[in-house]
Amino acid sequence: MTSPAPHVQDTELAAEDGADLLRRVRALDLEAKVRLLTGGDLWSLPAEPALGLRSVVMSDGPQGVRGTGEEADPTGLLAAAPSALAATWDRDLAEHVGALFAAEARRKGVHVLLAPLANLQRTPVAGRHFEYWSEDPQLTAVMATGVVRGLQGANVAACLKHFVANESETDRTRYRSKIDERTLREVYLAPFEQVIAEARPWSIMSAYSGLDDGVESAPAAEHHRLLRSILKGEWGFDGPVISDWASARTTVETALGGLDVVMPGPDGPWGDLLVQAVREGRVPEALVDDKVVRVLRLARRVGQLAGGAAPDEGAAVTARPSSNSYALLRQVAAQSVVVLRDEAKLLPLPNVRSIALIGPNAVRPYLQGGGSAYVPTARTVGYEEGLRAALPADVTLSVHRGGDARMLPPFIDGAYAEDPHGDGLGIRADFLDKDGTRIGTVLRPTGDWGGFEAFPADTHRVTLRTRLVLTEPGLHRLEFGCAGRHRFAVDGILVSYEDAERGVDMVLDSSHSRPRTHGVDITVEEGQAPLQVRVTADLTVVDAAGYGRFISAHLRHRRPGPSAADEIAEAVRAAESADVAVVIVGTNEEVESEGWDRTGLQLPGHQDELVRAVVAANPRTVVVVNAGAPVLLPWAEQVPTLLWGWLPGQEAGHALADVLTGRTEPAGRLPWTLPARAEDVPAPHARPTNGVVAYQEGLYIGYRAWDRAGLRPAYPFGHGLGWSTWSYESLVVHQAPVSGELSGPATGAGDGLNLTVEVVNTGSRPAREVVQVYLEPPADGELDRPVRTLAGFAVVKAGPGERTTADVHIRQRALQIWDPQASQWRTPPGRYRLLTGRSSRDLRRITEITVT
Ligand code: BGC
Repeated sequence: MTSPAPHVQDTELAAEDGADLLRRVRALDLEAKVRLLTGGDLWSLPAEPALGLRSVVMSDGPQGVRGTGEEADPTGLLAAAPSALAATWDRDLAEHVGALFAAEARRKGVHVLLAPLANLQRTPVAGRHFEYWSEDPQLTAVMATGVVRGLQGANVAACLKHFVANESETDRTRYRSKIDERTLREVYLAPFEQVIAEARPWSIMSAYSGLDDGVESAPAAEHHRLLRSILKGEWGFDGPVISDWASARTTVETALGGLDVVMPGPDGPWGDLLVQAVREGRVPEALVDDKVVRVLRLARRVGQLAGGAAPDEGAAVTARPSSNSYALLRQVAAQSVVVLRDEAKLLPLPNVRSIALIGPNAVRPYLQGGGSAYVPTARTVGYEEGLRAALPADVTLSVHRGGDARMLPPFIDGAYAEDPHGDGLGIRADFLDKDGTRIGTVLRPTGDWGGFEAFPADTHRVTLRTRLVLTEPGLHRLEFGCAGRHRFAVDGILVSYEDAERGVDMVLDSSHSRPRTHGVDITVEEGQAPLQVRVTADLTVVDAAGYGRFISAHLRHRRPGPSAADEIAEAVRAAESADVAVVIVGTNEEVESEGWDRTGLQLPGHQDELVRAVVAANPRTVVVVNAGAPVLLPWAEQVPTLLWGWLPGQEAGHALADVLTGRTEPAGRLPWTLPARAEDVPAPHARPTNGVVAYQEGLYIGYRAWDRAGLRPAYPFGHGLGWSTWSYESLVVHQAPVSGELSGPATGAGDGLNLTVEVVNTGSRPAREVVQVYLEPPADGELDRPVRTLAGFAVVKAGPGERTTADVHIRQRALQIWDPQASQWRTPPGRYRLLTGRSSRDLRRITEITVT
């Protein structure tokens, strides 16, 4: 593919604000302009006093606001993961969460939140599945729109990411997604287009991956057609396109392709090289001016440009998280819980005297997914703590793990590690300079030295030493993992080493967060305990380019303990004698994270066995799945009450207690399809072949594929029982669609159809219903189309016996197809069926419209 010829059409700045900003930009020399287009450091854009431009600070997103790593006290609020919020199908709630993030951002001095995502859950094994909203473009767009509005309503910019078709992690900077034009428009671009039309995000992030749309094949950050023709041209996006971290690798191609900002900095492919390219006429200076204008526009919107309209609250807001914030996080986490099944009508829990709380995730809940989305939090409420706080004091609550679901041993516990110099408990680190001279020392009570960087600047090597006390007889397992050059030894015997001195590619190589481990077993005989072993490590500091210098070492120790079978047996005994068993199974940090894709859909460890055994022991069992992405639940139909509990964030325990005690309705609906069998999954893996991830399933993502194949999933898209029953009384179309051809960008509200759906709460409690409307295109249409697609939805509430009306808007786009020949949208004529109901497979009312 040859580079398209440079053109400067999108530098025509129609708006007055553009002209004003352009005047300011032109007052700078070329070097000064170019300097503003690469990060000043890992998280911020440089200031330019001559323009009144202050530094613009960015931070991840989307489970909270991580901050830039400078605060000593991690007070960050941790929300439920986006897929959980999506399960509420509630744009207003998403807007509240966006506003909460905005307050967090202001508190932490952040102006741009690197969120929300608008990628889709194409394959259930995708590592970042928990971070994406849904397998459906419409639901994705609505939820992302809510977050953008909440953020920007408080003058914090959203950065919509990752543009586009970055739906998996394996080899993520090297693959190109190959997608036909129609699928690209109707499925993968659709949520971006809709969010841009309806919420106008102030910045966007290009994807790590590349795109081959049949016309142009290029990395996303260089894709001229994508960035300049579609995004900036057709859709009129007026903010900066920011590179995903360390993904910009070329000078001229990225500059011409439409990238505006290279992150992180201060190094990178622009700087002097871009100045030179402009001087040599390979990049028009007007294009550089346009990029700077976009940066200034962003700065003005967040209050970092003097003379801007937005208030500059910046660091002035220092308040700590309030109880209102905790209440919102708790509400989201509780409301998002999906009742997959409640045969035994156990919700809310009847008067109980004793509860057996069981499962690896009951003991260690998985609250948030890993990777750039990770937010350190000071306050987290586990399941046991939440239940204990909610239950009357005379209710007995016993807790049983029922087997470990983690493959790796836990980190060395400082309580069993003695400083060899006798200074107390912990692991001693000595920091050595290039000559081997000790320039610092620290003692820390843990074997977790992942991403450790708190050493003197001249540190070249770090030695870790401790005397680990093996207190009990039996089999002990020690395991070590490390990024970069290292030597680990136990009692002088080498266990793990790497001799090559190398840096770490933070983007491609997950060795810093998930290093390969090597281990040794030590059997302590009766009478030998306690036994001391010397653990030593010699590590070379790794250079992770723009991400700094650190060591990343994991020192792990599993002590002798009961086998999984013993733990399951113990849990079963507890379940037998309790009124109710609550079993919490799920994934964990070894399973769901940015940086890699899963290899299968099974629950890790012995959790299937555990559930089966507990359910057999006590028919009053509630099973809660604590996971962001689908896992197979082969026992689902034997479980009396089954809830999907997501990655619920810091208020996990309170939220689950609210659901179990009847304080909050678990009103979630699945934003994706839960497969019953791995072999039914439409896009079962995400491995590139020869550098290409082929989106062969075309338009048939998620439920569209299941409907087409006529397969029955475990639970369909949109499913969730809540705690009431509903009858669907009527479906009325109030506005006929515009006939004929339409083109150009979506115009948001105003076009399309308005419907009303009348529903009655036929249950005995006040409840919340997600009224879903699906569209079935004419069967005789000349083009292949999905059987049905989600066209609109609305959330309503009603008391027992109460009737209420849901107003549902359907955008014109929902009826349309992209015509690749004509390069435009059109609405094929014919009879369309509109169906409304409780899920994509529970449709209660039908009506038809005719497009002439
Ligand atoms: C992720 C982005 C994130 C960025 C900054 C990248 O690895 O793909 O989502 O915003 O890092 O942390």
